[in-house]
Amino acid sequence: MAAMMKAAVLVEQGRIELDDKPVPAVGPNDALIRITTTTICGTDVHILKGEYPVAKGLTIGHEPVGVIEALGSSVTGYHEGQRVIAGAICPSFTSYGCQDGCPSQDGGHSGHGYKPMGGWRFGNTIDGAQAEYLLVPDAQGNLAPVPDGLTDEQVLMCPDILSTGFAGAESAGIRIGDTVVVFAQGPIGLCATAGARLRGAGLIIAVDGVDERLAMARQLGADVTLDFRSVDVVDEILKITGGRGVDASIEALGLQSTFEAALRVLKPGGTLSSLGVYSEDLHIPLGAFAAGLGDHKIVTSLCPGGKERMRRLMQIIDSGRLDLGAMVTHHYALDDVVAAYDLFSHQRDGVLKVALRP
Ligand SMILES: NC(=O)c1ccc[n+]([C@@H]2O[C@H](COP(=O)([O-])OP(=O)(O)OC[C@H]3O[C@@H](n4cnc5c(N)ncnc54)[C@H](O)[C@@H]3O)[C@@H](O)[C@H]2O)c1
Ligand SMILES: [Zn+2]
Repeated sequence: MAAMMKAAVLVEQGRIELDDKPVPAVGPNDALIRITTTTICGTDVHILKGEYPVAKGLTIGHEPVGVIEALGSSVTGYHEGQRVIAGAICPSFTSYGCQDGCPSQDGGHSGHGYKPMGGWRFGNTIDGAQAEYLLVPDAQGNLAPVPDGLTDEQVLMCPDILSTGFAGAESAGIRIGDTVVVFAQGPIGLCATAGARLRGAGLIIAVDGVDERLAMARQLGADVTLDFRSVDVVDEILKITGGRGVDASIEALGLQSTFEAALRVLKPGGTLSSLGVYSEDLHIPLGAFAAGLGDHKIVTSLCPGGKERMRRLMQIIDSGRLDLGAMVTHHYALDDVVAAYDLFSHQRDGVLKVALRP
């Protein structure tokens, strides 16, 4: 009989619980990782609530930090016992989508071309990281060794939150001196704010409604913070920019209202960079969109993965350019995953990210 492990499984809508599953068998291109630390993403909460559908019985989670337990026969250049991370998105690097420059939109192995989001497999189409062990497919392209001296918690944001937040800033094409607004300062928005600073933005405006998050935004690079509960955010941003509008607005929530505000504050020719996961159709207001003639760019990004992306993100942390340590606000054993979801999904007790340890 196969050895068993604990895993956080979607039982049904509204219920993610710990269950026993067999430790996965390792194929030639895979690696088996013993998870040492993982965490919960806002997207996992969408899954819990049934706003983003995945199969019942699936292990959730896509943010692994761990140690190589076993390597497939075709995977070279790594060794058992090595500390590694893998991106939340783990592309095959062989599909049309990958070779066309969009590995996150990995076409999968069907040979039928593009399948949106095909690179997002952990906790979406295959078992995920909230477990004692994780099978990493296409390990040769996805395992990234953790530099000595960095703790699990220092690299815990790299697989998803940091890669996504930075992608929002990168896709926005921020130039030195740009004015940038970031709507929502959850973990993703905070990393977008940090990314905007690293890209050289001249003025960063961060919007949220939670005092601790606005304080964290200032710590990570926001010059101005706006509380949507007490000000008309669109008016305020237009005032701050002397009516010019912002060069780039980053949406990091996934609601009509924030998407729309991000468009309303954008200068003609500006870029709306959207990161949120939406669960309803979006409506584009004609006025804010200049009837389609505003030279606006609306871009979306799915978290970039792969070992080179992960290496770069860990380099930023290793060189001291960014410290996200303060984002890990709570610690739970994997055994207490239900309590961890409860705290995280209700955003209680100032939680930003929880470290989950098997
Ligand atoms: N694109 C990707 O690859 C990717 C990856 C991971 C997560 N996501 C998505 O990104 C989004 C953000 O994730 P997160 O974990 O940071 O979410 P979160 O739920 O932790 O944070 C959302 C924040 O939005 C704030 N907020 C609520 N209403 C607001 C409003 N009207 N204006 C401004 N702020 C408001 C809340 O106070 C909270 O701080 C989610 O939709 C998530 O699914 C996308
Ligand atoms: Zn995520």
